[in-house]
Amino acid sequence: MKTVLCLSLLFFMTQTALSQTLTVHSPGHINAVTFILDDGVPFYEVNRLGTPVIQQSAMGFELQNQPALKDGFAILETEETTFDETWTQVWGEKKHIRNHYNELRVSLGEMTNLQRRLDIVFRVFDDGVGFRYEFPEQPNLQAFNIMDELTEFNLTGDHTSWWIGAYQWNRFEYYFEESPVAAIDTVHTPLTMQTTDDLFISIHEAALVDYSTMTLERTNDLTLKANLMPWADGVHVRAETPFVTPWRTIQLADTAGGLITSYLILNLNEPNKIEDTSWIEPSKYVGIWWEMHLDKSTWGTGERHGATTENAKRYIDFAAEHGFEHVLVEGWNIGWDENWYESGAVFSFTEPVDGFDLEGVAAYALERGTRLMGHHETSASIISYEEQMEDAFALYERLGVRAVKTGYVGHGQEIFWLDENGEKQFEWHHGQHMVRHHQEVVELAARHKISLNVHEGVKDTGLRRTWPNLMTREVAKGQEYNAWGQAGGNPPSHTLILPFTRNLAGPFDYTPGVLDLHFDDYRPYNRVKSTLAKELALYVVIYSPLHMAADLPQNYESNMEAFLFIKDVPVDWYDTQVLHSSIGNYITIVRKDRNSEDWYLGSITNEKGRLLEAPLSFLDPGKIYIAEIYRDGTFADWEDNPYDLEIVTKEVNSQTILPLRLATSGGQAIRFRPKN
Ligand code: NOJ
Repeated sequence: MKTVLCLSLLFFMTQTALSQTLTVHSPGHINAVTFILDDGVPFYEVNRLGTPVIQQSAMGFELQNQPALKDGFAILETEETTFDETWTQVWGEKKHIRNHYNELRVSLGEMTNLQRRLDIVFRVFDDGVGFRYEFPEQPNLQAFNIMDELTEFNLTGDHTSWWIGAYQWNRFEYYFEESPVAAIDTVHTPLTMQTTDDLFISIHEAALVDYSTMTLERTNDLTLKANLMPWADGVHVRAETPFVTPWRTIQLADTAGGLITSYLILNLNEPNKIEDTSWIEPSKYVGIWWEMHLDKSTWGTGERHGATTENAKRYIDFAAEHGFEHVLVEGWNIGWDENWYESGAVFSFTEPVDGFDLEGVAAYALERGTRLMGHHETSASIISYEEQMEDAFALYERLGVRAVKTGYVGHGQEIFWLDENGEKQFEWHHGQHMVRHHQEVVELAARHKISLNVHEGVKDTGLRRTWPNLMTREVAKGQEYNAWGQAGGNPPSHTLILPFTRNLAGPFDYTPGVLDLHFDDYRPYNRVKSTLAKELALYVVIYSPLHMAADLPQNYESNMEAFLFIKDVPVDWYDTQVLHSSIGNYITIVRKDRNSEDWYLGSITNEKGRLLEAPLSFLDPGKIYIAEIYRDGTFADWEDNPYDLEIVTKEVNSQTILPLRLATSGGQAIRFRPKN
């Protein structure tokens, strides 16, 4: 699988050791990276089919109390290898993934007294490029602090881009902006761009472990530079050799949908480290959650307390009857009675409040063939959580809990630790301090056979490949903003941007499935700004191996026909294909169930209604399928008539071209099952 290729096949070297140019192509000769050492200074550039995508861009580091690692280098050694392997995801949007790249490793050595070493490794795939820095063990670089990573992405044009700003108090929970690159300041990744030639580019990172989150800062006209979220004392990264950085990734595709079916981020992560994965279950859940966001019940104790034993049992009965694997109960533990999201309340993660029989509820869930889903809202009080988490996960394991939702509500820079003088040091949610914390939680949870659903955490960088119990995250504006968001609910285009931005990073616990789109009794100024069919289609469009049926049980009981799609739709897929894609406008995704021959289709649009045609060539040729279609009715319209849903069945085959008629902010959800 790993082959060292003859040097001259993939690159050629020119000039002296202080000035050299090395080029490596992707296996299909689609993308190429050129590494340039110009008088001792390292640069790289990226081309796609001969066209520049990233122009000569800087590399290197500023360090604390020692000279920068950015110049004075000579190439000591180069190695190129090719790798081709198909691996199997424990769960995912595609079962088998091909990891095929050509790698170029450039070992640099300083020509100064210090003679420090730095390796740069490029992996070039047909769907993009990844590169990282490696600091080998060496006498003159042991423990060190990075003060700035100098990596640049020097773009070739003022591309249209979709982004959210970094360093904001509400972390990743903002609506994506669409603007030319030249209007960007400092933004989170993935940063998705579209060139005037319709090339789609997404810059992100893979395998973010023991490092700070990379944001992108526009430093010049069209130059973006890595900007690492610093520690309280200004250090960007604390490191000790041997040390590797996360991969900097540039995904490239000719369609927006091509970014969705690129698995480059996963390929750049380490293989699965969990031997027995039988307890990791892609599944759907219900829970005492939406009623709190509607303010029908409360997290805190009192007359309207949501987490009562009786209410939990009601949800468990509902889950058991309709085949949901977990029941989330929020507000079960001590700590919610304070103004928890502002005061940084200190929760207990082992003590239930009076009126909630934790042991009894967990046992009742198991008896009924479902399970309690745990909830740890930390309110970003990390010290207190870290002190309790071993006991907290052990308790849940003993109670048969297999999945825990964690939460880190708190303003961007609220997390603190105590330094050696006992002084509070405030940290960003996404700096190295928190990256380390999240890694500890994932590994601890794995030891207790528990999967995670992380809210307000660090952005996803594909770690689910290594730790498949890290199943899903929110880390964006989800459904809950429909309940109480100041805009009165997410705009219709929000879910048309998420698949091309937030979801490129990884699974998203959006919590779809709200069928009662208006909730005037509780939140009259808010609503879900879509049709019913669009809400169903989100189960296919937004990928998550843990998907919630978010609405109140009574709203499903009064609409069992629509609810059937939510019950049927799987969350673990054999294959994924994108049929239509236009960022912010429309998308159609089809996915094949991993455990049957069924296919599912989800198609959604923004505020503009449209007619699309879906060729069903993904179906098995020669087979007849029954299409169970949930579509916008003739008079459907998200503003005035969102509940107009038609459910029809129809025989189709791989030759069929199915017209998709989508109402304003509408959608269509289809299950295709073989006729016999
Ligand atoms: C914010 C989370 O996104 C939400 O799902 C949760 O209900 C609240 N925090 C309370 O933990």
